[in-house]
Amino acid sequence: MLRSTIAGIGMYVPKNVVTNNDLKKYMDTSDEWITERTGIKERRFADRTGETTTTMGVEVSKIAIERAGLTPKDIDFIVFATLSPDYYFPGCGVLLQRAMQMENIGALDVRNQCSGFVYALSVADQFIKTGMYKNILVVGAEKHSFGLDFSTRGRNVSVIFGDGAGAVVLQPADSSSDSGILSTHLHSDGANAEILAMYNPGTHANHWAKDHKLADFNDGEIGDMFMSHEMIDHAQNFPNMDGPSVFKVAVEKFPEVIMEALNKNGYQSSDLSLLIPHQANLRISQFVQRKLGLRDDQVYNNIQKYGNTTAASIPIALCEAWQEGKIKDGDLVCLAAFGSGFTWASALIKW
Ligand code: UT7
Repeated sequence: MLRSTIAGIGMYVPKNVVTNNDLKKYMDTSDEWITERTGIKERRFADRTGETTTTMGVEVSKIAIERAGLTPKDIDFIVFATLSPDYYFPGCGVLLQRAMQMENIGALDVRNQCSGFVYALSVADQFIKTGMYKNILVVGAEKHSFGLDFSTRGRNVSVIFGDGAGAVVLQPADSSSDSGILSTHLHSDGANAEILAMYNPGTHANHWAKDHKLADFNDGEIGDMFMSHEMIDHAQNFPNMDGPSVFKVAVEKFPEVIMEALNKNGYQSSDLSLLIPHQANLRISQFVQRKLGLRDDQVYNNIQKYGNTTAASIPIALCEAWQEGKIKDGDLVCLAAFGSGFTWASALIKW
């Protein structure tokens, strides 16, 4: 069967480094708390006006396309994963197509938060396997710094996230080689969708808020808006997270979905050359490492430098590991993600 392979990869992080101590200017927090609970020391914030999720997507796409030995005109499909798009609609896919002056190819936006890149990769993989497309650009990019509550009220969420982007070009693998994407595994469970969510702007007319006897800013009359001054006054436009509950499910689902990928292909965790977990929290990655009995050199972490960049975290980590020479031909690499939804996913790749 036709397999897809990563022909080019790129990453980008903004120049502006924001340390834990820098955040103390805005909220009651400390370097000790953030380091101990998350492993994060610093993150990057995009230029306030000059950079957007799409412009960062463009940066990484140029690198990935060049490394694949292609030009933007060769790309025949775009899959763009983000939860922080330039506009509520249209999505970043078409903005990328416009910025890179690509042909009038299809552009698909994926909204699967922290699992977004693995979902996007899986979608692209299916198009390559069926022979429908030959050069697919898969992008994960986030400009979180524009959408976080930097007051003490939002500190459990805002200290975690950072900005950045990563991209790969997917192509059919050489039929004589055994390299490429071996399998992808996608899951969801919406039972607890609201414990890591941004409720507004949205069309829910506060059904969930009513059910949970929380503040209600909308009585459902014609003329009610999905975003109002009142909602903003009550910080309803920021992400909400019950961190400890997310943590508990994450440490269960990460090992599960990694083992699913390994078992499907007849491998054990000891066979892994490198695990690239979504960079959610260093404590989560360390827990997963212990659970699977992996050595330090089998797990890649860079959350210390970039924080959690959601859909961008896996392609950034994959690219950085590759640039550092930590991924070589023939290596068995597993990508694994868990996040809001909940959604979780993995991809096993023979490099
Ligand atoms: O990538 C998407 C998926 N997301 C995740 O995987 C996140 C999973 N969860 C986590 O990573 C952790 O739950 C957090 C890092 C978000 C929080 O760590 P925690 O150890 O679970 O802390 P907590 O939320 O239980 O809060 C403990 C205390 C609270 O104070 P009290 O009630 O004990 O007095 C918080 O108010 O820490 C306080 N706190 C902070 N203190 C200083 C919360 N955020 C901060 C902060 N600085 N930034």
